[in-house]
Amino acid sequence: MRIILLGAPGAGKGTQAESIKKKYPIAHISTGDILRANVKAGTELGKCAKEYMDAGKLVPDELIIKMVGARLAEADCKEGFMLDGFPRTTAQAEALKAILAQLGMKLDAVANLVIDDETVVSRLVSRRVCKKCGEIYNTVMKPCSTGSVCEKCGGEVIQRDDDKESVIRNRLSVFHEQTAPLIDYYTKEGVLVNVDSSGGKDAVLKILEQMRG
Ligand code: AP5
Repeated sequence: MRIILLGAPGAGKGTQAESIKKKYPIAHISTGDILRANVKAGTELGKCAKEYMDAGKLVPDELIIKMVGARLAEADCKEGFMLDGFPRTTAQAEALKAILAQLGMKLDAVANLVIDDETVVSRLVSRRVCKKCGEIYNTVMKPCSTGSVCEKCGGEVIQRDDDKESVIRNRLSVFHEQTAPLIDYYTKEGVLVNVDSSGGKDAVLKILEQMRG
């Protein structure tokens, strides 16, 4: 299975990915997670990406395309993959098309998580994540029962630097300007499926299962 999870910040791409992974053990490629790991490790990529991420802007296409191209060529992607947060611009979508053609692969579906801006803001200001394992919590919808200690791994549960309201609103503007055109792009490619983001954490999984019969 080769799929893309498309949607605004906070639409629930990471949450849906967790449900899909439990059923289909395919590679989960979250460009946000890879970038945050690079920031934490202090790599050149991380140093370059940090200022864009903190401002809620997109990291330049050439850096992202190189990073994803290398990841898709890894052995675990042969059995399938789930792209979470990539592509985010038309240039990234065109690059992905070329990379997949080179690898002899085709996309099965692009799940577009539909959500309104105010729901995004209220979800993201209350989101908390585990610094160690990435488990996603929400102070309103899914509080961590052990406070700031992750229920799964004991890591520290924190608020992301870009989950402040002013940065969230910048991320939303960037989404509408640069990423939303991909809805039309993948509709024309015949692979887009709209999914109501309020439909529960396994909404995309249910649609994928229907598609597979
Ligand atoms: P990234 O980490 O990809 O952030 P994002 O796209 O803004 O998405 P989020 O991780 O914020 O949200 P999500 O959709 O995964 O939602 P989640 O499941 O956590 O990117 C961060 C930055 O990296 C970017 O701003 C950019 O700078 C850079 N970057 C990354 N990729 C790039 C690229 N391709 N090109 C250039 N730059 C790039 O859920 C959110 C909250 O809602 C949680 O608290 C969750 O519990 C709750 N929730 C989820 N689903 C539901 C539901 N159904 N009902 C109620 N609550 C729910």
